[in-house]
Order: sequence, then structure tokens, then C-alpha cells
Amino acid sequence: MPAPLRLGLAGLGTVGVGVIKIIQQHAAMIEMRAGRPIMITAVSARDPSKDRGVDLSGYAWESDPVALAMRDDVDVFVEVMGGHEGAAKAATEAALTAGKDVVTANKALLAHSGQDLAETAESLGRVIRFEAAVAGGIPVIKALTEGLAGNGMRRVMGVMNGTCNYILTRMESSGLPYDHVFEEARQLGYLEADPQLDVGGIDAGHKLSLLASIAFGTKVSFDAVELEGIGDVSIDDIRRAGDMGYRIKLLGVAQMTGRGLEQRMTPCLVPSDSPLGQLQGGTNMVVLEGDAVGQIVLRGPGAGEGPTASAVMGDVIDIARGLRLPTFGQPATTLADPVAARSAAPAAWYLRMTLQDKPGALAKIATALGEAGVSINRMRQYGHPGGDAPVLIVTHKATRDDMMHAIASFAATGVLVGNPVAIRIEEV
Ligand code: NAP
Ligand code: HSE
Repeated sequence: MPAPLRLGLAGLGTVGVGVIKIIQQHAAMIEMRAGRPIMITAVSARDPSKDRGVDLSGYAWESDPVALAMRDDVDVFVEVMGGHEGAAKAATEAALTAGKDVVTANKALLAHSGQDLAETAESLGRVIRFEAAVAGGIPVIKALTEGLAGNGMRRVMGVMNGTCNYILTRMESSGLPYDHVFEEARQLGYLEADPQLDVGGIDAGHKLSLLASIAFGTKVSFDAVELEGIGDVSIDDIRRAGDMGYRIKLLGVAQMTGRGLEQRMTPCLVPSDSPLGQLQGGTNMVVLEGDAVGQIVLRGPGAGEGPTASAVMGDVIDIARGLRLPTFGQPATTLADPVAARSAAPAAWYLRMTLQDKPGALAKIATALGEAGVSINRMRQYGHPGGDAPVLIVTHKATRDDMMHAIASFAATGVLVGNPVAIRIEEV
């Protein structure tokens, strides 16, 4: 009988407990599929007395995850503690040095230290797998590194933070403002301990930077991701964008342009009837575009015990089967240093502004746009009995620089009330 694959599981929270449940419920099935038994030998968490709702009696307890990572009876170190430094990083490094493979759900760790960890792993003949780190239960890392390996990737995009998508879709369906829905999300337990990781776009930015590395053969460059959260998205914009046939999503886009690698995680408008526009609640969606395959859309649960543990177990079973791939799909030492390009690809823009209701006001704005090289595609002015005029404009494609130049010149027209809002429209 083949030797069992022995796991050391660091972290007994949402994901760790999910992994234990799968292994305990499906041991026989997993053994058949993996070709050998998979068992947990030791676990680690902070509080040994906490009831976690699963039977831990068959596992050795290590209070120090670094000690767990180095145990002789551990073949694969499963890191589901979280945090981009501290215990998670120290234990992952210790595991690699001690000759263990690593499976992790930790996007923050890989976004910050992925290149170093991948180089260490590959120099020691070890593998690091991280399916659960991006889009939870959706097997997007596998799709990119294996199924689409023959494609030159053109673009990777998606909604990769379920909490933000929940907030935006709930604002639309309820008509409630951001602050109110944010509070609802907090009470439902959707927000990370530091909510800025979610609503500031940081968590989703981590995920995008990992996908970009695989897709474009570049070193992970999270610092180069253009990040903007959803905190400034107003209920007015959600409604007005809807009037023009769009929905607002916190959308990640990575593409290689003539000026370099563009990575954005920002609120964008997408057509309401597109797959991304239709995405409701906490679900994730990743769109992959390759030169041979065209466009692939992957949709599914991006978080939670079952979906995330499912992804961890997929990685563990691959290791048990003997699949050994470089962390980012090609040897880490061959990954290129990307040149960062900020919003290089031109796009159509949604503009919302309020104008004084006087002759020539709209003409002045149109002239300012024209002088900046921005062309109007569609326009709508709403009824405004006796008050200032709410105006929406959808432009033809323009670069971000031209758009920002136009907006800066609006001030000199003397007809603007308050600040205009500009949101990029992504072609999907
Ligand atoms: P969690 O519920 O907060 O659990 C974290 C676990 O790690 C807890 O059991 C905690 O111990 C343990 N831990 C933390 N610091 C430790 C330390 N220094 N030493 C030993 N144990 C320590 O977190 P989670 O939601 O399972 O997430 C785990 C990882 O998966 C994170 O990287 C997260 O980003 C990623 N992830 C999570 C989801 C999701 O849906 N939850 C989805 C995708 C990816 P105690 O229980 O004793 O406090
Ligand atoms: N906070 C993340 C989300 C959890 O809302 O999608 C999964 O990474």
C-alpha cells in the first residue's frame, strides 16, 4: 500500500475546520482519487481549549506553527492562519527549508512575498500551491497554470471580493446608502477583521496580482496594482449608471499593454446584461482571455468554509498524485520584472456632474471635453424644476490622462456645481 501523505495543518478557523471536515468525511474517496491515503498528523492554532466543532483527538497539537512545519511526520504544511508576515511567513519558510511542500490559502502572504517564497521552494525542489488564495472555491489557478498553459493571455479580470460585491448589489436592490449597507455587512460577519482589506480593494488586489503573475509570466507586483475601494461609490451613481445600462463592480483587470503591465482593482461600470453585470451578492467571477481559447468565464463561491477547503484539498490531492508545478506556472527565476503601466488602455467613461442651469453651460463642458480630445458618445440631462441640472455623459474611448485633463479643465468653466464623478467603463 502506498505511503500516506501526512499533513500538518496550521490554522483551525473557517478554512482549517473545513479541511478537517472534508478529510474526515471523504477519506476513502480521496484515497481512491489520490492513489494514497491523505491524513492529518498534527495541527496548530492559538487557543488549544477552543471547541471547533470537529474531532481533533487523533492529531498531535503544536502551539508553535514553526515547530509544526518542521515535524518529521509532516510531508505537506497546510497554512491557513493568514497574515502576510509573522507566524504564517516564518512557518512557511521553515516548512520549505525542512523539505515540506506547502499549500496555502494566504493571498496576502503570496502578494507580498510570493517571489521569494517561490524561489526558495523551487531551489529546494519543493512546491507551493495556493488555489484557495484566489476566488475561494473557483479553480482559477489550475485553469491558468494547466488548462490554459498553451495560450498567450490577453487579459484577466474579475470580481474577486465577495464582500464588496455583496455591498454594491445590496445598495442597488435596497436603495440604501453605502454606510448603512457596510454596517449590515459587518453584522452579517462578512467583513475581514480589518474591513479596509475588503472595501479598500486590498484583498482583491492581492488576488489580482497573483493571477497577473501567472498570466503574464511576471514577478508578483502587488505594489503596482492601482487600488481604489468602494467607499466613495454613491447610491446616486448606482442608480444613474443603471439608467445608462450599467452596474458598478469592484473590478480587477490585468493586461499587458504596449506601455507595460496594467493592474487595476477599482470600481468600474460593466454592462448590466453582461455576465459580470449579472453577478449578485457574495459570488466571485473571473474572466480569462487567451489568444487561442478566447474568453472563459468562471463563476462560484469566493469564500466560506466549504468552498475554500475544497480548493485546499484540490491542491493537496494534486501533491499526493505527484503533480509538481512551479508556483507561478514557470520557474520563478524566469519570471520577468514587470514595467508598471497605470490605466494605459483607453476606455469609455461615465461622467456624472451637476451644472448651473444657465445658457451655454452644457456647451462649455462639451468644449472642455473636446479640447482634451474626449468625444461624447451619449448624454442625458435629468428634469430639475428650478434647480441645478444633473447631467450624465458616456464618452467614447479616451485615455485616463485625457479624461483627467478634461475634468481638471471643468473648474475653469464656472458652470460646475460640486465635483464631477468619473468612472471607467470596462468592455467585457
Ligand atoms: P480564521 O477563521 O481567522 O482562522 C485563523 C486560524 O489561524 C485560527 O484557528 C487561529 O487560531 C490560527 N492562528 C492565527 N494566528 C496564529 C498563530 N500565530 N499561531 C497559530 N495559529 C494561529 O481565518 P480563515 O478565515 O480560516 O482564513 C485563513 C486563511 O485563508 C487566511 O489567509 C485567509 O485570507 C484565507 N482565506 C479565507 C477565506 C474564507 O472564506 N475564510 C477564503 C479564502 C482565503 P485560534 O482559532 O486559536 O485563534
Ligand atoms: N474577504 C474575502 C471576500 C474573503 O469577501 O471575498 C475571501 O478571500
